[in-house]
Amino acid sequence: MTYPDITHDLTPPTPAEGWFGGHILQYHGNPLPFLLNNMREYGDIAHFRVFKYHFYQVNAPELVGQVLVKQAKSFHKSVIYKRTLGEYLGNGLLISDGDFWKRQRKMAQPAFHTGRIHAYADDMVDYSLKLRDQWQDGEVVNVAEDMMRLTLFIVAKTLFSADVSEDAKEVGEALDVLLHHVVEASRRVVRLPDWMPTPQKRRKQQAIEILDNITMNIINERRTSGEDTGDLLSMLLMMTDDNGVGMTDSEVRDEVLTLFLAGHETTANALTWTFYLLSQHPDIEAKVYDEIHSVLGDRPPTLEDLKQLPYTLMVFKESMRLYPPAWAFTRQAIEDVQIGEYTIPKKWDVFIVPYVIHRMPDLWDDPERFDPERFSPENEKQIPRYAYLPFGGGARVCIGNSFALMEGHLVLATLLQRYKLELVQKTVEPEPLVTLRPKGGLHMRVVKR
Ligand code: HEM
Repeated sequence: MTYPDITHDLTPPTPAEGWFGGHILQYHGNPLPFLLNNMREYGDIAHFRVFKYHFYQVNAPELVGQVLVKQAKSFHKSVIYKRTLGEYLGNGLLISDGDFWKRQRKMAQPAFHTGRIHAYADDMVDYSLKLRDQWQDGEVVNVAEDMMRLTLFIVAKTLFSADVSEDAKEVGEALDVLLHHVVEASRRVVRLPDWMPTPQKRRKQQAIEILDNITMNIINERRTSGEDTGDLLSMLLMMTDDNGVGMTDSEVRDEVLTLFLAGHETTANALTWTFYLLSQHPDIEAKVYDEIHSVLGDRPPTLEDLKQLPYTLMVFKESMRLYPPAWAFTRQAIEDVQIGEYTIPKKWDVFIVPYVIHRMPDLWDDPERFDPERFSPENEKQIPRYAYLPFGGGARVCIGNSFALMEGHLVLATLLQRYKLELVQKTVEPEPLVTLRPKGGLHMRVVKR
């Protein structure tokens, strides 16, 4: 499709505003139906407003490509996230911009090259085996919690050679406070002055201290031992940029914490949703198990087995289509920029919503249906660019995407080999916080094969 040159100051189609704050009530009531409905009514691009903040919801994959790639120079990460997430993550990879981001990304990238991440496979399987051994036949577990713990252990061990099993509960709770705070702060109508004490602020401060202590301990131990373990932490501590300048402790701290958060929350949610979807589709569940059983028998999976387990990976990818953990992400225009037939004014936000794009009927046949065949090698090639973007796209694409796919693949193979998971709660409601989770967790009975 070609878009005409901009000739006038159009605003994209906008749903009727409420009596208060633009679309705040519709959006905050439940963003997922609101955004899906915008796409259904307005197609490629829609506009909505939350008080003074304007958002362009970009739905058409071609326009998403313009934002993330062709015109990427006209955008930065949004101020709203920099302000809220920045309180915890400082200037880590997820929210930094410009030359600083480029430098940090270059220094972290080697830890995510294919050759390196292959070395992480054994740890991924070992931690999954430990969880599998803890589960008792017939017991009801909160899979969402178990996945959070498992992926946290994996990221700590593989990237920082750290065992956080002692601190897992504390770290998990602190990260939870952080994520709730980010969402509350970005939705808050009135901003209280920074000096005004509130219970939320106290909780937030405690959470920051807990995370700071744990990350600084990991960094200090490594600095003291001077050991080069070849992991990401060693790289961050030893590498220098083109000017021969290394990272300060506080820069390393920001990156470590960013990777702790970005590297476990998302993958945990992707796995949780996969178990949920499998429990609702016994035929697909049986097919995954057949594949795993016929390839592995009773032995645990290894990296080499993964190519013999294509269906398991197809299931994981399809689950991230229906429930993309990063269900939405934003950019802020740093100058007036034309996207499609509209000019996005400087400082306005673009909203890219994989949850919506992954359910567009003109891109996906019967979009609500869980169908892993969409990701068979032949079918996957037919998916239009930016129609499937669980990991984002362009230069800011997820640095951990291959890591996450390999991790999901191995964890599923290890757990499903021994257990079938049955849903025991009546309803499951997606909760769109920073990531998309099942509200209140996911309670399932683990039944030994
Ligand atoms: C299923 C799992 C995952 C999903 C769905 C996911 C999703 C995403 C998405 C959508 C972005 C881009 C956000 C944007 O453009 O604003 C992103 C960025 C990022 N992800 Fe992931 N991610 C996953 C796993 C991981 C893992 C395992 C790691 C690290 C171990 C990681 C680290 C990061 C980092 C550091 C960034 C920022 C990259 C940059 O801007 O340079 N993610 N992720």
